[in-house]
Amino acid sequence: MKKFAVIGNPVSQSISPLLHTTIIKQLKIDACYEKIKVLPDQIKNFINKNNYDGYNVTIPHKNNIIKNLKYLDVYAQEITAVNCVYNNKGYNTDWIGFLHALKQNEIDIKDKSCLIIGAGGAAYAIAFALIEGKAESISVENRNLENKTKLENWILKKGVSPTNINPKIIINCTPLGMGRYEHKIPSKIEVSDSHIIIDTIYNPLKTKWLRQCEKLGARTISGLDMLIFQGIASLNIWLNENIDEHINFKIIKTTLERHLCLQK
Ligand SMILES: NC(=O)c1ccc[n+]([C@@H]2O[C@H](COP(=O)([O-])OP(=O)(O)OC[C@H]3O[C@@H](n4cnc5c(N)ncnc54)[C@H](OP(=O)(O)O)[C@@H]3O)[C@@H](O)[C@H]2O)c1
Repeated sequence: MKKFAVIGNPVSQSISPLLHTTIIKQLKIDACYEKIKVLPDQIKNFINKNNYDGYNVTIPHKNNIIKNLKYLDVYAQEITAVNCVYNNKGYNTDWIGFLHALKQNEIDIKDKSCLIIGAGGAAYAIAFALIEGKAESISVENRNLENKTKLENWILKKGVSPTNINPKIIINCTPLGMGRYEHKIPSKIEVSDSHIIIDTIYNPLKTKWLRQCEKLGARTISGLDMLIFQGIASLNIWLNENIDEHINFKIIKTTLERHLCLQK
């Protein structure tokens, strides 16, 4: 039996086990997926002693794990964040998940002006995806100005300039809208029916910001599709094959939506 897991702290609320067991069931393979609480001072020991066939990495280890891993995939190196490990090698599948979520929703980012809110790990992964997808321009909004400038310069170095005009696509990469920030909105930027508003948050399924923007006529997308596709991309790495054709995205999404609605 293959054994997979997600490590982090806190990890008790993670829906990755449900996501992966749903996919595993569809693939009809003998595998399980667990969630493991790993504290920062335990990470080195976990990397060297675990017997998992692959694992995901979540808050707060996505950056700090890098120095303890033997190998690093080129994309994870670029993004400087790891959310997936296989054979002591760190990968980033968040950016792949985001690109697939755009494709799933038939959104073409080529030549579009974009705004990223936030400048943490998810923001870097999404900026990378936008650059790969040939976005015309990318701006950054963030609470901490130093982090904002750092991400802006990183984007600029990759040949993409900030947005001068009103951005067409706005992506929230902060926790504003979930948990203790459930009633907060990440940006006060004026939104109209010409905007595409994307949240990385999937719990709640529709954040206060998405609901507000929807009322103003904007097209909105939650973080659930990105979550599903980063999970699929992780399994592709662990199983060393392309599972995309063997799974039913709709059933996976409905299963997760039901679970998230029941949690309310
Ligand atoms: N759907 C998916 O598959 C997926 C994948 C990855 C992440 N995510 C989501 O993406 C979000 C960010 O994750 P991350 O890994 O990038 O986290 P992170 O590295 O900790 O970055 C958090 C970002 O949010 C900002 N922030 C945090 N608290 C804030 C507050 N109270 N007010 C304003 N800004 C605040 C931080 O700003 P400062 O720089 O000022 O600290 C930073 O830019 C989370 O909600 C996570 O669930 C979703």
